[in-house]
Amino acid sequence: MAFKVGLLGLGTVGAGTVDILRDPFQRHPLLQELVIHKVGVRSLDKPRSVDLPLNLLTTDLDAIVSDPEIDIIVEVIGGLEPARSLMLKAIAHKKHVVTANKAAIARFGEEIFSAAAEAGVYVLLEAAVGGGIPVIEPLKQSLCANRIRTVMGIVNGTTNYILTRMQAEGGDFAEILADAQQLGYAEADPTADVDGFDAADKIAILASLAFGGRIKLAEVYCEGIRQVNATDIAYAEKLGFVIKLLAIAKRDSATDPEQLQLRVHPTLVPKAHPLASVNDVYNAILIEGDPIGQVMFFGRGAGAGPTASAVVSDILNIAALLKVGRGQVTQADGTPLLDPLLACSHQHYCTIAPLEDLITRFYARFLTQDYPGVIGKLGTCFGNHEVSLESVVQTGIRDGSAEIVVVTHDVREGNFRQALDEIKAMTTVASVASVLRVL
Ligand code: HSE
Repeated sequence: MAFKVGLLGLGTVGAGTVDILRDPFQRHPLLQELVIHKVGVRSLDKPRSVDLPLNLLTTDLDAIVSDPEIDIIVEVIGGLEPARSLMLKAIAHKKHVVTANKAAIARFGEEIFSAAAEAGVYVLLEAAVGGGIPVIEPLKQSLCANRIRTVMGIVNGTTNYILTRMQAEGGDFAEILADAQQLGYAEADPTADVDGFDAADKIAILASLAFGGRIKLAEVYCEGIRQVNATDIAYAEKLGFVIKLLAIAKRDSATDPEQLQLRVHPTLVPKAHPLASVNDVYNAILIEGDPIGQVMFFGRGAGAGPTASAVVSDILNIAALLKVGRGQVTQADGTPLLDPLLACSHQHYCTIAPLEDLITRFYARFLTQDYPGVIGKLGTCFGNHEVSLESVVQTGIRDGSAEIVVVTHDVREGNFRQALDEIKAMTTVASVASVLRVL
């Protein structure tokens, strides 16, 4: 039996997928039953490194998604359009879809999964989060007996590379970003990565699976790493932390267990925490559930081979269903029957807790006049807003001002922000140089 695959896109991930599909030796035997039927590309003239007969290539992507011979469409062109329209068209033609497209899934998940449920096809997306790291299938299947409390991770390799170098070299963000761009570790337009949007897409997808509800992407709080600087990294280091861009989805049991915290921001992570030692371009996702406790997934979050590994695992999952006749099953009343562990089954939207109700620790750095009583005033102001301080450090003078670094205990974000507004208005305070959350 042969299962025909239509590939949309022959960039890095597409080429990696072709490499695996055309070299099944010592891999799962089911791979030998997969056939690349057509590959959609933007230009037929571009030189290609992949081992692929040229007659498989076409620029007519619409013809691929409506080709009656094709069973599985693999969308690895990325971006929002035409990826969304092509996936919807493939679904309408009753084709199963495998995608690596976190941006399209995070924005159009409802539309895509509703269409798939109606058509009785699967849309699988292991490669959309964490590249080669298996985390989607574990959340759907291996961990499904658990009540998930937290999904927290480093899901963007570019920012992890930049922060790791800032930590190691003591450099500032702008210079290390420029160097990372030169070396090809960061995109020429780094916005999606450094402003946290890529991580927000990914945590929205993970949260949806972990907590069994849809997520409105606009409700994910998102702060990138542009404001992280060498001074804060050095202070964090002295205080026993490293700074990481964390994506966090958490059941907000402190306030309302029905609400989720959903946020992406640079975070001071204690050096002993499992995520603190995830460096360079590596990704890791830490999941906490009941009864499993903690489980962490670690690996390469991008790149041709790792991402293609995830894409091909999804293709094989679908091929396995097709092989045993479970690809498209219709019930007596004519409605499609899908495997509930593989298909998306949730309909409602999760409720996201307001950020001001978040309970967390904070790190803040102030530049103040060097007068007696300034630290006392800061402490009194925080105390008035029920913000308890864990440590206060004044190590020296910067730009003619005293530099004071404060770490709080767990406090309500709204209270902390109110105290901060009052502190900003103090004549003795030159500036609030930085504010970061602490894990
Ligand atoms: N741009 C992403 C990253 C890789 O830097 O991790 C693809 O998801």
